[in-house]
Amino acid sequence: PLCDIGFVGAGVMGKNLILNLADNGYRVAAFDLDHQKLQAVIAQDDAERGEQAPRVIGCSSYTELLSRLSAPHLIVLSVPAGKPVDDVCHKLIDAGIQADDIIVDTGNSLWTDTVAREKSYEGKFIFFSTAVSGGEVGARFGPSLMPSGDPYAWTRIKPMWQAIAAKVDPATGKPIERFEPGNPVTEGEPCAAYIGPSGSGHYVKMVHNGIEYADMQLICEAYQVMRDVLGMTATAIADIFKTWNDGPLHSYLIGISAEVLATKDSETGLPLVDVIMDKAGQKGTGLWTAVSSLQLGSPAPTIAEAVYARSISALKAERVKAATVLAGPAQNLYSETQQAEIIQALHDALYCAKICVYAQGFHLMKTAADEHGWQLNFAEIAKIWRAGCIIRAVFLQSITEAYERNDELENLLLDPFFSKQISVYQQNWRKAVANASLAGIPVAALSSALSYYDAYRTAVLPANLLQGQRDYFGAHTFERTDKAKGKTYHVDWSRSERPMVKVK
Ligand code: 6PG
Repeated sequence: PLCDIGFVGAGVMGKNLILNLADNGYRVAAFDLDHQKLQAVIAQDDAERGEQAPRVIGCSSYTELLSRLSAPHLIVLSVPAGKPVDDVCHKLIDAGIQADDIIVDTGNSLWTDTVAREKSYEGKFIFFSTAVSGGEVGARFGPSLMPSGDPYAWTRIKPMWQAIAAKVDPATGKPIERFEPGNPVTEGEPCAAYIGPSGSGHYVKMVHNGIEYADMQLICEAYQVMRDVLGMTATAIADIFKTWNDGPLHSYLIGISAEVLATKDSETGLPLVDVIMDKAGQKGTGLWTAVSSLQLGSPAPTIAEAVYARSISALKAERVKAATVLAGPAQNLYSETQQAEIIQALHDALYCAKICVYAQGFHLMKTAADEHGWQLNFAEIAKIWRAGCIIRAVFLQSITEAYERNDELENLLLDPFFSKQISVYQQNWRKAVANASLAGIPVAALSSALSYYDAYRTAVLPANLLQGQRDYFGAHTFERTDKAKGKTYHVDWSRSERPMVKVK
């Protein structure tokens, strides 16, 4: 019999998505240039279902891949973002793909590439995309899926995506997690929702990753304060994160941070984190988010700081040298009695800063949606981030509720639940940032979130002076608070009487 869906790429993500589709009853025709990768996924399918009932069929060419599917063909790509996507598309065109066939890109593609591809392949086939979050385990047992593009392509792939997606218990808003091959979660609300026109799904995933960067950095800053100010061991910090994971900070990222910190190195017996080099890598999605926020003028300073934090961490050799040259404050270890207080302050700071990070991310999506004419459904986006993805957290349920209360919300900070939360916890947030600064610990994400909050709630910022400066040296003009909006003025700064000229 013919297969239900074709798949190109059996790398880490591809393999797991294929096995997930197979678990859900779909027959997958798979192709990978790397024969070993293809064999590995077939062997795994055989091991899980028995050789008599295989659901993954290996193909030795693109032509065979097409022949294993009924027309119009539906083919998913799981190949590295960038050039490989176009390479495979061209190979499929050569193999005879038709105008009504669908290719679905699932990589971390730059959203503008997706828009360009949809246009450039028009008439050759339908280029659709689905951004995937959740890493290896998510792909295998339930990722969060952000599809966008041609609505017809969505109707074709929707049942499959909803079947393999992570599921949320509608009563609690929490993920239903079952990591058993052959026994997929079929109940609950699927974390797969159509985002909008071409490119919008990858844009939303890009912002998800920007939030992911900031979320991770915030946790790392709390870790550093506990390690370097309070002198706590990795194991002790792991225990703190475990307790935090029972409260409002409950999230996948806090959970894995606790696990990483609790792990011992198999070679030395030391805490594993103590032997991991403090140089962060990055593949670009956080940077793209920061760039987009700068381009659109929708501030996401905490996301940008998280990208910078990775960049400064990568300057390891320079930092090691600078550490012997540049002075910090006198060593300031706190007493045991203050520990609990400082840890509580860090907890509250993390919570408040996290609210600001999401506020920045959702504001950015709103600005982009207005700019590109997308009708983004923010409650729906928060919903599909409740399970499966890297930033999944109980918190996302509160965001869902905020947008269900008001889908026109200008900024998450203005939602009554979140504004109340910050008003309750902000004192500790301020303390945590101040204490870290006094101790010489960099907390760029925690403090940039605080500055974002303070700037956003300040009716009169010092940009009046800034406009004066701009007008002084460049005649850039300014508006007056006491005159009609849009009317601009310039002062002739060269004359001692500073005469005011109305410009327009
Ligand atoms: C996810 C992740 C995933 C990946 C990114 C981040 O949602 O599943 O975001 O897409 O981990 O590539 O990678 P970097 O940290 O390397 O930029």
